[in-house]
Amino acid sequence: MTYVTAVLRTDEPNLMHQAVEEAVRLLREGEVVALPTETVYGLAANALDPAAVTKIFEAKERPTFDPLIVHLPNKDQLDLVAEVPEGIALTVKKLVERFWPGPLTLLLPKKPIVPDIVTAGLPTVAVRVSSNGIFKRIIGALDKPLAAPSANRFGSISPTSASAVLSELDGRIHLIVDAGASLYGLESTIIKIEPGSPKPLITIVRPGPITPDDLKLYGKVKVAIRSVIDGPSDAPGQLASHYAPKTPLRLLERPSDFIPEEGKRYALMSYRGEEKDGYLNLTEWEEVMMLSPGNGKLPEAAVRFFYVLRALDKLGVDEIIAEPLHEHGMGIAMMDKLRRASVRYAS
Ligand code: TXA
Ligand code: MG
Repeated sequence: MTYVTAVLRTDEPNLMHQAVEEAVRLLREGEVVALPTETVYGLAANALDPAAVTKIFEAKERPTFDPLIVHLPNKDQLDLVAEVPEGIALTVKKLVERFWPGPLTLLLPKKPIVPDIVTAGLPTVAVRVSSNGIFKRIIGALDKPLAAPSANRFGSISPTSASAVLSELDGRIHLIVDAGASLYGLESTIIKIEPGSPKPLITIVRPGPITPDDLKLYGKVKVAIRSVIDGPSDAPGQLASHYAPKTPLRLLERPSDFIPEEGKRYALMSYRGEEKDGYLNLTEWEEVMMLSPGNGKLPEAAVRFFYVLRALDKLGVDEIIAEPLHEHGMGIAMMDKLRRASVRYAS
């Protein structure tokens, strides 16, 4: 089915009210709507309505083995969709108090009310509460959990603006609610919690804005991002081709490994645009885009990360070369995404 995709602004009070009202109306009717969150834009539908959720998979062309994150109107509704095992109840309570609303997703045993299509038949559900003001208004008015994956076509780059959503889903959905650029620019951190002694065990299955350092107060933190070679990770959506631009991308860990090929056009995704990093003068770049000029700040780089990838992808160069970033804090997530994006072209 094709739709006329409307983009509604929220930067003036009356426009904002209209956009919220229209989004709520569509969601009540069992439609999907692209909504801003503090991480990336999401494609939302009533999580308790399997027919509505099916439309998410259709619009994204997402395989149904890949489960969705359930967003709650507020933290008190956790019990509605998830079972909190006694052995981790205190830890869950502390994490929820500290990080919700915000970019942390918890994997917990699901309650029967959550349709199997949401969790791809898994016994667990991924759940979070978004801190985005517009998202909160919409989900608050609807008062239903919303299933929402990132609002891109399956395997493509996550959208951090309404225009990025439009380029992914134009003609496939009724409405995009535009609330400007995403605050964090990277998808939420997904964790699994297990009882442990002396501390509970927190496993990061998808790195994101909430870092191992942020979590270590609450348990023993393990980052378990499986490489593509190891097979699927605990978050089934993280396939090899994920986050991949259409242009071949290469994460160039050492500048000395680069041998430009005659006649090929290259673009550089530079971390901080510093000559001393050894990348700027490797070749006549068709384009250089920086993530965080100067000293290189990881949260700032994160905000621009998907935007820059998308922009470089549009140039039609032969290859995008990416500089490595510092691999701590939010750099863990970006390096993971760069590795996944470049592996498609390795060997
Ligand atoms: O920040 C975010 O998390 C964004 C915004 C829109 O909330 N959403 C997002 O959704 O990134 P998505 O569908 O693009 O990524 C969700 C990831 C997928 O890798 C999926 O496999 C994993 O979460 N996931 C969902 N439910 C799961 C479950 N029950 N067990 C394991 N992994 C799960
Ligand atoms: Mg996604």
